[in-house]
Amino acid sequence: MSTLIAPSILAADFANLQKDCEIVNKSEADWFHLDVMDGVFVPNISFGMPVIKAIAKHATKTLDTHLMIVDPDRYIKTFADLGVNVLTVHYEACTHLHRTLQAIKAEGMQAGVAINPHTNVSLLEDTLMDIDLVCVMSVNPGFGGQSFIENTYNKVRNLKKMINDLGAPTKIEIDGGVTDKNAAQLVEAGADVLVAGSYVFGSKDPVATIAGLKSITS
Ligand code: DX5
Ligand code: ZN
Repeated sequence: MSTLIAPSILAADFANLQKDCEIVNKSEADWFHLDVMDGVFVPNISFGMPVIKAIAKHATKTLDTHLMIVDPDRYIKTFADLGVNVLTVHYEACTHLHRTLQAIKAEGMQAGVAINPHTNVSLLEDTLMDIDLVCVMSVNPGFGGQSFIENTYNKVRNLKKMINDLGAPTKIEIDGGVTDKNAAQLVEAGADVLVAGSYVFGSKDPVATIAGLKSITS
């Protein structure tokens, strides 16, 4: 399977969201990555339900929603009703992660777990069979445009080994600081999905930039 590319809408032009949705639609991108931040779990506030509802009206691809919020269980049904396909919660924000994963699946969505740079992948071992996607944060969550943390490669290799050993159905997503400089090495380490925000929307031609990422990683 070729690597999936998920442009992060956090780096889009919020006054022209329809235009940027159409750019992603017509590009070789596979998913829309939507970053929801609450100002509590992370030191920033991004966007929430009304904006996702507006994006869902235009987006023709999988909606991959990354919740950087405390107590995400409160909103699982709401995100399902908005048309979200993959719902990712933070390991560090869930007291009963196994229960949260089941609740996401019960609403018909794929269940993702994001881990901060300091969280060891071994902590996911007991829930891995229930996780559709692990989002390995390659920056500290909260902001776009940060630089990639090099230790991510080790984490991805360790996680990939655990997935293979257990025969888990889990995809590995990398989020933060992804560019043409690290994409191939990430795929080699075991990444299945690459999120890219500022590298895509900060470029002159996002459609060509996405095509470039796709060709580097296929
Ligand atoms: C960071 C977000 C990322 C962000 C990535 O908290 O989860 O998805 O949008 O942005 P770039 O690609 O600019 O690092
Ligand atoms: Zn994200």
